[in-house]
Amino acid sequence: MTDEPRDPSGHTQVHSPALSASYLANPDEVHRVLLLYSGGLDTSVMLKWIQDEYDAEVVALTVNLGQPGEDYDVVKGKALQLGAVECHVVDAREEFAHEYVAPAIRANADYGDGYPLFTALGRPLIDKLAVEYARKAGCDTIAHGCTGKGNDQVRIEATVQTLAPELKVIAPVRSWAMGRDEEIAYARKHGIPVKGGTETAPYSIDDNLWGRSSEGKWIEDLLHAPDDDVFQLVTRPELAPDDAQTITVTFEAGLPVAIDGERMDLVALLERAAEIGCRHGVGILDHIEDRIVGLKVRDIYETPAAAIILKAHKELERLVGTIHQNQFKPGLDRKWAYLVYAGLWWEPLRTDIEGYIERVNERVTGTIGLKLFKGSVRVVTRESPNAVYDAQLATFTESGGLFSQNASPGFIELWSLQSALAYRLRNNEQG
Ligand code: ARG
Repeated sequence: MTDEPRDPSGHTQVHSPALSASYLANPDEVHRVLLLYSGGLDTSVMLKWIQDEYDAEVVALTVNLGQPGEDYDVVKGKALQLGAVECHVVDAREEFAHEYVAPAIRANADYGDGYPLFTALGRPLIDKLAVEYARKAGCDTIAHGCTGKGNDQVRIEATVQTLAPELKVIAPVRSWAMGRDEEIAYARKHGIPVKGGTETAPYSIDDNLWGRSSEGKWIEDLLHAPDDDVFQLVTRPELAPDDAQTITVTFEAGLPVAIDGERMDLVALLERAAEIGCRHGVGILDHIEDRIVGLKVRDIYETPAAAIILKAHKELERLVGTIHQNQFKPGLDRKWAYLVYAGLWWEPLRTDIEGYIERVNERVTGTIGLKLFKGSVRVVTRESPNAVYDAQLATFTESGGLFSQNASPGFIELWSLQSALAYRLRNNEQG
């Protein structure tokens, strides 16, 4: 007999206290770890730390979702130098654009009035790839660099427990009790190069081809208006060109296919939209956000592509939809965005809702003209074969033959009948 605690499966827990979730790894189960590696300080320290703490092999995985300016050869070299037994860099931009950003466009996806969900959309794909590569490389555990305070841990761990119940998770940042200074000391001691110097803590950045977020530093002080140096992607509106630019975005079945008449695949189109938006300073958002884990947090977002594409899509959708469709869809869009934000990408309600969204978007074909000028993006023209719009009917100049203005009074009498009765009742009650 032994006094050691036992978990429900009957395994003896040798090293650690009871784990708070069944998918977390006991140290003695960790032999070969798939690490989601970004090349930054946390995951670089982690790459070494896992080898030392767990006496385990590490397979590194870095996913390219279109982070601007990333040098993946450098990231890979660093992983191997730090002792990774394998390092995979996967270019997932196509899949990200077509399978994750595309449904978000059709859903006009934003959370909390303006955040277009680029991180929340990227995570389930990164995590699905982590599962695939972990299985291929014979890993028993997936490690990530998320803290215990954010949404990303929720997205990752929900994905692993959903797609791969046989894999375990470790989240060293939640437990290793190292602050930035200790991490830097650890990095120095183990010869881990620290990108961008060590004097001041950098912003915490996450980015991909659909946007970029910054957190930390003065952003945590709600009274502090944005310092200029946070804007590394979008030109600050005050520095944007003095001349406005008008562009057109063409959609087919709810997805953008051309800018200014030039057809492009979705990745290239999103990159082009980002480039134009960056030049004119569009898509900057200073956002207070309700996180899933209870906290309220401030983010600075730069989402130039989303600012243009979502604006155009929403406008075109409204043009081809009836009043009833247009009133109904935003409720579904909001629910879709919330599920994605909340890390429930694999929840069937998400795809159920997409059934309706895709159906509506079959008719979202046409071209929207937008004017960009010093931080603003404004719709200026619309065109669609499916527009529920008839210039003849809508005109002020003369009475159209199809629409009898004499039909209006009878309609108004019946339309307002209940409201009028209720109004009179209330006024009579008051004497
Ligand atoms: N607040 C956003 C979200 O929860 C962005 C998070 C960015 N993630 C990060 N690790 N810096 O989706």
